[in-house]
Amino acid sequence: MKYFIANWKMYLGLAEARALAEVARAAHSEENTQVVVCPSFAHIDAVGGVVRGSAAALGAQDAYFEPSGAYTSAVGIEQLKELGVSYVLVGHSERRHYFGETDDVVNKKVKAAYAAGIQPIICVGETEQERSAGQTKSRVSAQVHAALQGVSVKKVIIAYEPVWAIGAGKTPSVEDAQSVHRMIKQIVKETQGAECSVLYGGSVTQDNLQAFWNTPDIDGVLVGGASAHKKTLISLLALLSH
Ligand code: 13P
Repeated sequence: MKYFIANWKMYLGLAEARALAEVARAAHSEENTQVVVCPSFAHIDAVGGVVRGSAAALGAQDAYFEPSGAYTSAVGIEQLKELGVSYVLVGHSERRHYFGETDDVVNKKVKAAYAAGIQPIICVGETEQERSAGQTKSRVSAQVHAALQGVSVKKVIIAYEPVWAIGAGKTPSVEDAQSVHRMIKQIVKETQGAECSVLYGGSVTQDNLQAFWNTPDIDGVLVGGASAHKKTLISLLALLSH
């Protein structure tokens, strides 16, 4: 299975989110390809209503780990499930950077998602500084180990998103990404014995999608900016069948 995950971050208004959901709904569904749209919480219900009954699935950009209680503004996994959410991004670098999300919190969210039967997409990636210091693999390895600490599951999805590539118009070479993906798969194999898909994210566009998509060990993509515009989303989805 390959995954095309659209992360619309906080880019869109309701009408735009609905329009993009229509695009995802209408996309030709390739065998062995899962399209997932991740709108902001404010639009989950509306977007869910559009994609329901189609081959596209609904994802959330985050979820809180507690099941319920006095946690003002938090959104719980059971609440998302009620709205038809089947995937949740966990530990996105913007959550880590702007909202202080630690490896420990990421681990709690991963556990909560699995416990609720929602597939987490665990986001990892090194910063520019870590990359320059030659610490890409050690940082990513530490994040993967921490996220899966105490977890024993059959199916793991990890998104490798180098922080320096997100929204930056630059990417690692396909070979460099592939090498990190291989390492992640090895870790998951050793610690979980689980099936593992590793997606690439960070400045994916129509120009580089296929290079990543068609490379072994790259099991799909997590796309931000380019998935949040109608024209580019249509082009990206059309490329999946080539
Ligand atoms: P961009 O595709 O805008 O670089 O964002 C990547 C990302 O953060 C997806 O989660």
